[in-house]
Amino acid sequence: VMKPEPWAQALESVLADDPGARPTLIVPSPAGEVFDQAMAHALAEEQHLVFACGRYEGIDERVIDWAQEHFTVRQVSLGDYVLNGGEVAVLAMVEAVGRLLPGVVGNPESLVEESHADGLLEYPLYTKPSSWREREIPEILLSGNHAKIARYRRDEQLARTAARRPDLIEQLDPGSLSKHDLATLSALGYAVEGGAVMPVPSGSAE
Ligand SMILES: C[S@@+](CC[C@H](N)C(=O)[O-])C[C@H]1O[C@@H](n2cnc3c(N)ncnc32)[C@H](O)[C@@H]1O
Repeated sequence: VMKPEPWAQALESVLADDPGARPTLIVPSPAGEVFDQAMAHALAEEQHLVFACGRYEGIDERVIDWAQEHFTVRQVSLGDYVLNGGEVAVLAMVEAVGRLLPGVVGNPESLVEESHADGLLEYPLYTKPSSWREREIPEILLSGNHAKIARYRRDEQLARTAARRPDLIEQLDPGSLSKHDLATLSALGYAVEGGAVMPVPSGSAE
């Protein structure tokens, strides 16, 4: 377990660089809250982030307690597995947060339709040529009909999310779903029950 005093001295030297500030201290830990896109957005609003990467068994718990006097402390996990150190977790967090800062991604529109931007996974992506090794781009994408393309992509998002991350489908707010979304979800085996999107038990349809 990492001793507390070297950590306190390191963190105090960071504080001395910006007197009066109350930075957010991210302590990567498999026992922390799980990092996600919403947290990336929240952290992107912060003025000053400090990361304290543990190694070995982790950091003496009293450092966390002491640090709360000077920092807003968040213990954050990259996922439900154990890494050898916090550095890889922090690289992932810095990249996810950094690309949300203005000017980092060339086209800010590309942040809007990405996976997890609206609680769903992204639709499949294609580029030219439209025919490649006997594989065709879905015809609708070549139609020029923007409304139909948008609907097709939304349906693909719902279908892909239902197949790969059904937990995300169940977290959708039914109030945010259009009639067409609900029809697509119904075809995928989901219904709104008690104000939540739930899988319809097999055999109970019709
Ligand atoms: C071997 S781990 C310590 C695991 C700790 N004893 C536990 O069981 O919760 C060493 C360091 O790796 C980092 N780490 C490991 N898994 C992580 C994860 N899923 N997310 C973020 N950081 C992680 C943390 O900085 C941790 O202090």
